[in-house]
Amino acid sequence: MKAIRGAITVKADTAEEIKKNVRLLLTKLTEKNGLTAENIVCIMFSNTSDIHSYYPAKAAREVGFFNCALFSSIEPDIDDSLPLCIRVMVLAETEITPKHVYLNGAANLRKDITKKLNIAIDGPAGSGKSTVSKILSKRFDILYLDTGAMYRACALACENAGIDCKDEASVQAFADSVDITVKYENKAQKTYLNGRDVTEIIRTPHISMMASVVSAYGCIRTKMVELQRKIAKENSCVLDGRDIGTNVLPAAEFKFFLTASPEIRANRRLAENELKGFNQSFEDVLREIKARDEQDTGRKIAPLLKADDAMEINTDKLTEEEVANEICSVIQGKI
Ligand code: DC
Repeated sequence: MKAIRGAITVKADTAEEIKKNVRLLLTKLTEKNGLTAENIVCIMFSNTSDIHSYYPAKAAREVGFFNCALFSSIEPDIDDSLPLCIRVMVLAETEITPKHVYLNGAANLRKDITKKLNIAIDGPAGSGKSTVSKILSKRFDILYLDTGAMYRACALACENAGIDCKDEASVQAFADSVDITVKYENKAQKTYLNGRDVTEIIRTPHISMMASVVSAYGCIRTKMVELQRKIAKENSCVLDGRDIGTNVLPAAEFKFFLTASPEIRANRRLAENELKGFNQSFEDVLREIKARDEQDTGRKIAPLLKADDAMEINTDKLTEEEVANEICSVIQGKI
């Protein structure tokens, strides 16, 4: 069962205006969400207290919603509330991600669910980016794009083709034939290399190091950044990476840069690796983290860097939930 929200304003408190706009709101909401009257369990309306002429629920029944439960109520008078406004919540039996519908200026009521959001989260390996990004994508019900996975898939492509990833000329000659795509299944990102799902096998420590090497090359970055920008243009999403705020989406409204000490990051990575069954000592992981930091910050093209307008959060003493809470409150405060 899903709850789908919507609202609309009417020009005047007349039965005709209310009927017309309730019909419009319900038509758009059902069309956008692929619903029929049969999927809908109940429709609840609330309207501002300046509407007296007609029950929105009665208007809904008249336009064909006979079988679901219908309910209308009046909201308390709140200063600054949008006048002549009808809000709706539709409960429906569906698996889709709800598409909320705000019409006739009512979008201002819920910018958090109607506005296109691109959230950039950058930082070094182990700073908590991916877990925090996943929490944010759930809270805002938007996509999560793990851009590192795309560079990992490029590294795997080199490995599979027997190409030395340290040899830029060979990687460049081969780069055009590498086909990386990103798909979403049940809202989770799947990364494909030449049509094959490589989501899981790119998570090894070896591929991490190789990804850091190939991601320094312009021939790889140009292709990946183009794909990242396309996904961000078409969707509300949270993107994590190294150069999202500085290079991929320099105009993003929300930019965060997560940091943590190398030791803390190595400990986090060690715990993750243990769960995945990779046997590495703390010293090995710390060495790799430091080597990657050096490679990612030291490269010429789009290095790991905090954007001037990004908010820096040191995650040493914070849980991922706490970091996500801080980011959420910054975003909620601005929209
Ligand atoms: O986030 P990650 O560990 O999966 O990233 C793997 C490597 O990819 C990382 O060491 C640097 C590179 N990368 C990048 O250069 N730019 C990004 N936006 C994301 C990752």
